[in-house]
This record gives sequence, C-alpha cells and structure tokens, in this order.
Amino acid sequence: MTQDELKKAVAKAAVDYIAPRLERDSVVGVGTGSTANFFIDMLAELKNEFDGAVASSEATAERLKSHGIPVYDLNSAGELEFYVDGADETNEHLELIKGGGGALTREKIVAEVAKTFICIADESKKVGVLGEFPLPVEVIPMARSLVGREIVKLGGDPVYRDGFTTDNGNIILDIYNMDISRPIQIEERLNNIVGVVTNGLFARRPADLLLLGTSRGVESIA
Ligand code: 5RP
Repeated sequence: MTQDELKKAVAKAAVDYIAPRLERDSVVGVGTGSTANFFIDMLAELKNEFDGAVASSEATAERLKSHGIPVYDLNSAGELEFYVDGADETNEHLELIKGGGGALTREKIVAEVAKTFICIADESKKVGVLGEFPLPVEVIPMARSLVGREIVKLGGDPVYRDGFTTDNGNIILDIYNMDISRPIQIEERLNNIVGVVTNGLFARRPADLLLLGTSRGVESIA
C-alpha cells in the first residue's frame, strides 16, 4: 500500500471509531496535515450527525467550511469529546512530535481540551526514540536568536524555517540532533525558554489512542 492509502485507511478508522459515539450537539476537534485532510473529507459524510468542529489551523478551518461543516471558536465551543490529528513521529507511549505543518500551538491547545485525543498515522511515523524528525518550536519573532542560543545549550541544532509564519504570526525553529530520550523533560525545558510559545512535543499530554496504518491493516494502540 502507498503512504496515502495508509493515511486514508487510518482516517476511515477514526471516522468509524467516533461515528457511533457522536451526538447531535457534539463538536469535534480537528487537526492539520494531509492525514487530517483525509479525515475531514470522510467526516463530511457525517456532517448532519454532529454540530460542528474546532479547527487547529486556518487551513483546516477552510477545508471544514468548504464541506459545510460549521467551525467554532474554541472559547465558544463546549466540551470536545474527540480531537483527531496526525503526527510526524510517535513512540510506543503515544508521545508525539507534531508541527511539521507549523500548526503545533493550536494543535496542542485543542488536544489539551479534548477528552480523547486520537492520533492517526501511517507506520512510517512509528519510532523507538523521538527525534529523527526535527522538533518544531514556535517562537515570538524578536526572541529568535535568544531561543536559538538556549536550544544549543540544551544540545540541539536549531534551524530557522525560512519564509514561514505561523497562524499566530510567529516563526518556527526546527531542532535537529536533539536527545529526546526523556520527552516530558525536554518538552518542559523548551517551554521554559523565554520567547518560546510552545514546542511540538506532545508528551505531557500524549495521544490516548493511536490508529496506525500498516500493510497488515489498521492497528489500534491505547
Ligand atoms: C501539522 C502536524 C501534522 O499532524 C503532521 O505534520 C503530520 O502531517 P501529515 O499527516 O501530512 O503527515 O503536526 O502541524
């Protein structure tokens, strides 16, 4: 199977998982990226069975709206039963690296609110130790050099994501060669640097359920 076929398979598995659990007033948290896009397109078939969605990026909001799915501000949405999103890497504890698409901060906020965070990913994303994928950090623009120096002190190699601005008007530093054998500790240390908005480690709040697309079928890992 191709990577896109695996992404479609996990998107369908997520829709199949949430469909019987949705109520007419349910609001679903929706992530960002190509896997999340497949999920949005399939979720649209159920659009009359739930109230609407909270989006983790402007791109996701546009795609949801293009399907006629109402998009709510998180502050005016009630409880979120589910947040469904992809990942750049996952380990066996369902700790993740996210933010390849630069939407990490809003993704982390929506994941924090949701009762159940369902991660959908193809098997190429499963790793033993996080960190092969460069770890994105969203930074207030004026703090770019300061944060870069602090990241070097933590043992990482920060690279400015040239020409990219987040939905929040900030920049991204991608960290290469970082030892992430203790993800919660690294997540907290990075977030403590002044000027960091957030980083793409989802370890304090990992996924609750991983739907992993493999050539043998979709595996559910909780
Ligand atoms: C965006 C993300 C995405 O979930 C992550 O980059 C995975 O993307 P894709 O589903 O396209 O492989 O964190 O900020």
